[in-house]
Amino acid sequence: MQETIKLSKEAGPIGIFDSGYGGLTIYDEIKSLLPQYDYLYLGDNARTPYGTRSFDVVYEFTREAVRYLFAQGCRLVILACNTASAKALRSIQQLDLPLLDPGRRVLGIIRPTVENIGSKTKSRHVGVLATEGTIKSLSYPLEIRKLFPDIVVTGEACPIWVPLVETNEFASDGADYFVKRHIDNLLARDKEIDTIILGCTHYPILIDKIKKYVPSGVSVLTQGAAVASSLEDYLRRHPEMDALCTKGGATRFCTTEADGKFGNQASLFLNRHIDVETVTLL
Ligand code: DGL
Repeated sequence: MQETIKLSKEAGPIGIFDSGYGGLTIYDEIKSLLPQYDYLYLGDNARTPYGTRSFDVVYEFTREAVRYLFAQGCRLVILACNTASAKALRSIQQLDLPLLDPGRRVLGIIRPTVENIGSKTKSRHVGVLATEGTIKSLSYPLEIRKLFPDIVVTGEACPIWVPLVETNEFASDGADYFVKRHIDNLLARDKEIDTIILGCTHYPILIDKIKKYVPSGVSVLTQGAAVASSLEDYLRRHPEMDALCTKGGATRFCTTEADGKFGNQASLFLNRHIDVETVTLL
């Protein structure tokens, strides 16, 4: 039984959550489109990766993160993690929000990613590279089918890619082997694929290697820009939520791991120095 958290009624920063560094690729795009808001980024680096964990574990970890962000004053939280969006979002929205505070919102990133896919693919064959959890959940084919029933979706799980990023091996020669292997597997399963969705927020950090092994004529889609413009649209359509998001242009970065480690790595991905706090989730 989790202890009750005390929630303030004040406006607060927009919460952005990922299992580790991957959500920074989403944060970066959101921040450049919507620089006026305050943000609170939380990476659960101590327990990453989520992609190979069970439904129940991902739900529990994500719920703890959302409770933490709410307790820090966030009224709106973005799960900048496909695995959490695939496995925990619905339960959090349906089971936890009504008990915690029906006025707060938690949004995922799979729906905004696929909303425009119909105009990106000509062959109507789309590939998805993602974690094992996201692929097994079938969230991508299900969401795409709702909007574009004619599109054929093939998924390939890449269980080693997140550890390559989290251990700072993403630019190493060894990374080439695993990047090539999963791209080749995907394209061998459906030779008509002309568009590949990077359905994991860590994967843009591997983009140079990915582009090296994807044939010309196949486009690679990352999620950040689509998620950012969907958030902008959401805030425009929900002025009552917009009013509850503070606008000071500041970001706090929090991690469940050692702050120095996160700071060094995150500064590398964001190309600037950042200050980080270590936090404990309950
Ligand atoms: N970045 C997360 C995603 O988008 C998952 C990484 C992990 O396996 O922890 O799915």
